[in-house]
Amino acid sequence: MSKTKILMVCLGNICRSPLAEGILKSKTDPSKVLVESAGTGHWHVGKTPDVRSIDIASKNDIDITDQRGRQFTVQDFDRYDWIYVMDNSNKDDVLALAQTEEHRNKVKLILNEIFHGENVDVPDPYYGGPTGFTHVFDMLDKACEKIAAKL
Ligand code: 4NP
Repeated sequence: MSKTKILMVCLGNICRSPLAEGILKSKTDPSKVLVESAGTGHWHVGKTPDVRSIDIASKNDIDITDQRGRQFTVQDFDRYDWIYVMDNSNKDDVLALAQTEEHRNKVKLILNEIFHGENVDVPDPYYGGPTGFTHVFDMLDKACEKIAAKL
């Protein structure tokens, strides 16, 4: 059976989606599930995740230091089975590139996994302190637990 391929998407691909990638990888079998991440923006292409994301992941025994930022492209709709976006703005940006109904149906707000149909955003922690990163980690951990249980 082929692997299920999942893409986590945020704006910068340095704070939230690298954490979502690392967390879901930690809960799934790499021979069965491929998890990657990307940003809708181009600013951090090739960069390592934000040090605050690296730190909160590390405190939870997850190493995300080998990740590098990349920008979401239209080809990603065909490469992945599911595209989990962190917030409604990411969702709008990704859907703006969708060309088919099949593409659109792959895009899901990650927190709808725990708050069904509520369309809640994972808050962008970039401009805040480390507490924001702890909060984001906890939310993503719960959402990824649900995703992993379905795979
Ligand atoms: P992320 O956070 O989307 O969770 O990676 C951000 C990181 C950088 C920027 C915005 C959000 N930025 O504007 O550079």
